[in-house]
Amino acid sequence: MLYLSERDVERILTMKEVINALEEAFRSLARGNVVLPLRVRVRSPTYDGDILSMPCLIEEFNLYTNKIVSVYSKNVEIGLPTIHALIVAVDAVRGVPIGVIEAGYLTALRTGAISGVATKYLSRKDAEVLAIIGCGFQARTQAAGVKEVRKIKKIYSYDIVADRAEKFAEEMSRKLGVEVEVVNSAREAVEKADIICTATTSSTPVVRREWLKPGVHMNAIGAYTPDMREIDTETIVNAKVVVDMREAALSEAGDIIIPIREGRYSEDKIYAELGEIVSGAKPGRTSEEEITVFKSVGLALQDNSAVYALLKKYLKELSKEYG
Ligand SMILES: NC(=O)c1ccc[n+]([C@@H]2O[C@H](COP(=O)([O-])OP(=O)(O)OC[C@H]3O[C@@H](n4cnc5c(N)ncnc54)[C@H](O)[C@@H]3O)[C@@H](O)[C@H]2O)c1
Repeated sequence: MLYLSERDVERILTMKEVINALEEAFRSLARGNVVLPLRVRVRSPTYDGDILSMPCLIEEFNLYTNKIVSVYSKNVEIGLPTIHALIVAVDAVRGVPIGVIEAGYLTALRTGAISGVATKYLSRKDAEVLAIIGCGFQARTQAAGVKEVRKIKKIYSYDIVADRAEKFAEEMSRKLGVEVEVVNSAREAVEKADIICTATTSSTPVVRREWLKPGVHMNAIGAYTPDMREIDTETIVNAKVVVDMREAALSEAGDIIIPIREGRYSEDKIYAELGEIVSGAKPGRTSEEEITVFKSVGLALQDNSAVYALLKKYLKELSKEYG
């Protein structure tokens, strides 16, 4: 059996490859060739952590994956990552296990990739200013995913812990070759942005409708429980809202669930799932002025397609090396 470490994943896989595989997976989903159950969440009340189990079968990839991912938001206080993950990959033709993949970085990569895909279909083509709210682990691949699909010239970064925004700016300006400026409030970053990524562990909105420019696109990836949210009700009510999966968003995303509870929004107002747009069933952005929001809680389909891209490239490397 294969074992691929965090370092292997970082060496082998690129953002572009994951974006391409993910688009392929969404088209496969539209053709009805994906089995994607809702994930199972087990909560540890004592340690304030969640452990999720995320299975997915993509028939066109002949691949079943199951990810065990833990989210412990207080880890960051002692210098440990918030997210740890492991994926088991199984050959879906015969049910034979292929291997185990350490998947903390892969999770960040596929989360950046879905924001890349959403940004490609929903943001203005001339978008060039990006705001990053929350400068932790995911923020890095959010910026990289957006940069892959749009010509970003400037990034504004904000975190409630100033030091994290500073570190992000120093690292990402070097890695992406884009000027990154730290600002003192989320508002300052958001008001200037054509694209916004929120990647916080916040339970209350970090973005408000009155701060948004016309035509802005937002990727909100942080909140993943009914009581967490990063976007205010006013933004949800006034935007074209696209989700990764309706069923998942309606059971997990406070950004959508809280406005519904308040009586200000309803399920039928969600414009589309991202897969419907990628497969061409519905158009993405249709005007330069509309505000678009992509709400992601994270799909096992993303893990499966990232593993598919990883294994394809790794096995190709091996066959070159050993003939
Ligand atoms: N949608 C998905 O597929 C997906 C995938 C991975 C992680 N996540 C979620 O994304 C979130 C971030 O994950 P991470 O690994 O980057 O965590 P992290 O702890 O590394 O980073 C989160 C950052 O947000 C900052 N923050 C918290 N509240 C804030 C606020 N009000 N304003 C500005 N900054 C604030 C923190 O200081 C921290 O730097 C988590 O909630 C995680 O569960 C979602």
